[in-house]
Amino acid sequence: MSKPIFVLNGPNLNLLGIREPHIYGSTTAAELEAMCHARAKELGLTVSYRQSNYEGKIVDWIHEALNDADGIIINAAALTHTSVAILDALRNFKGPIVELHISNPHQREAFRHHSYVTPIATAMMSGFGVEGYPLALDGMALLLKKRKPA
Ligand code: DQA
Repeated sequence: MSKPIFVLNGPNLNLLGIREPHIYGSTTAAELEAMCHARAKELGLTVSYRQSNYEGKIVDWIHEALNDADGIIINAAALTHTSVAILDALRNFKGPIVELHISNPHQREAFRHHSYVTPIATAMMSGFGVEGYPLALDGMALLLKKRKPA
């Protein structure tokens, strides 16, 4: 029985559509969630899409994922650059982890160039705008297929 993919979003990603549209685009968070469910359905996956402005909430969701998710796609947003707690939580997850960013942080300010998620991520995706979410689901499907015993 397959489990959902947790799509975890960090601070300020509830403001998509309003927040710096020249960087993050005009798609709202609700539209983005719908895009994720649509692509997951095409791939035969299910998604549990979540967003929080609180680090501890995201840590709790990663703990929940240890038993309840087949994979994690995480856009930790600003916490990417600060959170050892998220890194330590992710270290316990056995399935694939895709680090995702809407923008390309490496083209932006120097403080965005370091990620605490990267060392534990199976794969990374950034710079595709919100379309990176369905692309990350495509990638997740591939990673899950690779892990299945023949
Ligand atoms: C982001 C990039 C981060 O540097 C930033 O703090 C975000 C969003 C992105 O999706 O491009 O909030 O993770």
